[in-house]
Amino acid sequence: MDRHPLQHAAPVATSVSALIGNTPLLELLRTRFGSRILLKLEQWNPTGSAKIRMARQMLDEAEEQGLLKPGGWVIESTSGNTGMGLALLAAERGYRFTAVVDHHAAKDKIRAMQAFGAELIYVNEDGGDDLATADREALAEKIAAEQGAYWTEQHNNPANGNAYRYVADELTDALGDDITHLIGAVGTGGSLFGTARVLKPKLPQMRVVGVEPVGSIAFGGPGGPYYQSGTGTPEGAEIGALVDYALLDEGLKVSDKQAFNTARYLARKYSLLVGGSGGGVVYQALKRIETAPPGSTFVVLICDGGEKYLDTVFNDEWMAERDLIDLSVGPELDQLIAQMVAHP
Ligand SMILES: Cc1ncc(COP(=O)(O)O)c(C=O)c1O
Repeated sequence: MDRHPLQHAAPVATSVSALIGNTPLLELLRTRFGSRILLKLEQWNPTGSAKIRMARQMLDEAEEQGLLKPGGWVIESTSGNTGMGLALLAAERGYRFTAVVDHHAAKDKIRAMQAFGAELIYVNEDGGDDLATADREALAEKIAAEQGAYWTEQHNNPANGNAYRYVADELTDALGDDITHLIGAVGTGGSLFGTARVLKPKLPQMRVVGVEPVGSIAFGGPGGPYYQSGTGTPEGAEIGALVDYALLDEGLKVSDKQAFNTARYLARKYSLLVGGSGGGVVYQALKRIETAPPGSTFVVLICDGGEKYLDTVFNDEWMAERDLIDLSVGPELDQLIAQMVAHP
């Protein structure tokens, strides 16, 4: 058969979950100082995000520990991506799955959970599109305690962090010890710290850089509202047990405007659709690499793709109504990149 020169013959998977992992690395930028930014594109996983890795690990460990029996019932508080992963896997493994959600979650994520057969319970019916993490968690915990569902408790479940040892292995396979900075958005902390925990002993010089929305409180206050979905710890919610400050070298904040306008920029300039949190980490990676030593390799964990945000981040009206359009971000990044790649 005639095959495109870059296309390899792939083995045949026998379940959708067997397609989890081995996500691609994309070089976004190579500077004239020999530094580069590589994006680990986790949207290439089934359900389009990294979170299905930890959904699988949480179910695997619960099954191993006898906490989840055949035909059992799983409940989780979710902003969507974890719920999509659990919903897909519950369908595959024959579990009932209930997602406790709020109206802050992207509509497409909610619809996808329903498509896989998940039951939904909304908190904060009157709260508009406010993020209601603390209420969601309290309700998931209550239903688990009173009705016997197994609460996966992503914020405090070690399996969440354990799942990302495979990301660390994939990065080591691809790059060896050529990783100087690992950057990721921090929500539960599972992806960044779960990956860092495995890489750091091998690469003690590697800097671990967390990014959270302005208004999130894991790297200090003040708390306040933000629109970035899935990432951050809102005021009133507990900082997850997986946020490991001992592993964190730098905790950076990114505004909704910076994050979303970077996501929009990446779509137009690089033909790459990333979600809002991905926009935020790329924005900070581009700023940060400017001051990094020559020859640095930044690995940026991109949690999900932009397809889930076509009605929000990529919708001019939605952005304008919330005063989120910032036309200065594109030229700022253009200039930054031009300086870094051009020869003087
Ligand atoms: C879009 C998005 N970005 C970032 C994160 C943060 O990842 P973690 O919970 O591993 O810190 C999440 C988690 O749900 C997410 O859905």
